[in-house]
Amino acid sequence: GLWLLVVFTVSVAFGNAEILEDAPPKFQVLRAHASDVSQLNALRDIQHKTENDLDFWQTPSKVGHRADIMVDADRMEWLDSVLKSSNISYDVIIDDVQKLILEKEHGPSRYSKLLFSKRMHNEGGNRARYGFGEYHSYQTICDWMKDIERKYPDKAKVFTMGTTVEGRPIQGIKIGNQVWRNDKRIFWIDGGIHAREWAAVHTTLWFIDRLIADYNDDALVRTAVDRLNFYILPVANPDGYEYSRSDVSPMVRLWRKNRAGVVCKKDRWFRDRCCGGVDLNRNYDWHFGETGSSTDKCSEIYQGSSAFSEVETRSMRDFLTSPELNGKIDAFITLHTYSQMWIHPYSHARKSVPADVAELQRVGKAAVAALENTYGTQYKFGTGSDILYPSAGGSDDWAKGTLRIKYVYLLELRPGEDVWDGFILDQHQLIPTAKETWNGVKVVIRAVSDQA
Ligand code: ARG
Ligand code: ZN
Repeated sequence: GLWLLVVFTVSVAFGNAEILEDAPPKFQVLRAHASDVSQLNALRDIQHKTENDLDFWQTPSKVGHRADIMVDADRMEWLDSVLKSSNISYDVIIDDVQKLILEKEHGPSRYSKLLFSKRMHNEGGNRARYGFGEYHSYQTICDWMKDIERKYPDKAKVFTMGTTVEGRPIQGIKIGNQVWRNDKRIFWIDGGIHAREWAAVHTTLWFIDRLIADYNDDALVRTAVDRLNFYILPVANPDGYEYSRSDVSPMVRLWRKNRAGVVCKKDRWFRDRCCGGVDLNRNYDWHFGETGSSTDKCSEIYQGSSAFSEVETRSMRDFLTSPELNGKIDAFITLHTYSQMWIHPYSHARKSVPADVAELQRVGKAAVAALENTYGTQYKFGTGSDILYPSAGGSDDWAKGTLRIKYVYLLELRPGEDVWDGFILDQHQLIPTAKETWNGVKVVIRAVSDQA
């Protein structure tokens, strides 16, 4: 009897030890509510003291806001006690992040290929086909743009702004009737400056497809493509995007920054703790480092060693200020996920707006109305600092403040507060997300095209 017990105990102990070493850590996402100032401050404290170990998917900046915090099993007990001691209530909105990644981004894709084989492809007349409704590699994206250029040589031309640290070309596509002409006004769109925001990449690709496919059927598209040059950069952070695709582990899939100088060391649980990589949307030269950024390389919002220290941001600066584009850009739209917000400058400080804010509001609000009219998706409208949190060094503020571009917007796409998947958007939502966003963006296109 005793022997059996000993054998049993030993095997359970060894069994557990094995599980601890081999099983990937389970990550959860908690949604904590800041219902008064002291709770708000407590949440900020938690973020700042542990910003290197907890990933705040959403940061609260006002009473009534929420924090979405990704935490692994080892820190969960500690976080639970800290939140409870500050009387902060929370819900577990994602019980197992990796399980969700597998279900939403891997499971349905094979399945939807069978069920929705028509929807998997382009709508309308683009002869270069792309598999919409699911996620693809950077190589596939670049190949598709090249294919469009080959099939529509009078309307499309691939541009290369630079090369990343890992050697990838930073590529986008110029679209305009008689694409060789450089005398037209310009409409800029980018996505994917944050690696994990895959739905933003998919949406920019949808825009490319619309401009090509709808030229013959949509009067607005035709007029705009005739009158303007569109420059669309679907993946502003190619190294980060590819890294976030390289594994289903939450630490990889939820990577935000670029991959420059990333070094990983084992922590006391023998897990990789990675530092380095720059938050590219803190690296632009607009009140650099003043708010909502960090000088700590391990932080999710590491601003970099100086403004434009990174090849991705520097390439964009040099391209937008080159003779081909400089002074001709009338709109700059940059896509992020998530939280359903249509943001206009400035976002580095509260209550700071450009002189022409009335026009930004007029067109922006009309755009939001068109977006909301599509499926009823609700958006908030305002500056990032007022509806989200202040953060300096963003590309949108730089586009407005330094380049003086007229219509500058940063969009935070689906989901909003009612859906819990955060960055792990169900693939079935990709096309609806793209369609409603396109309806909003068309309002801005109309404004620019009417004045061109
Ligand atoms: N979620 C975005 C970010 O954190 C919001 C940026 C708003 N704009 C800005 N210039 N800070 O980068
Ligand atoms: Zn983002």
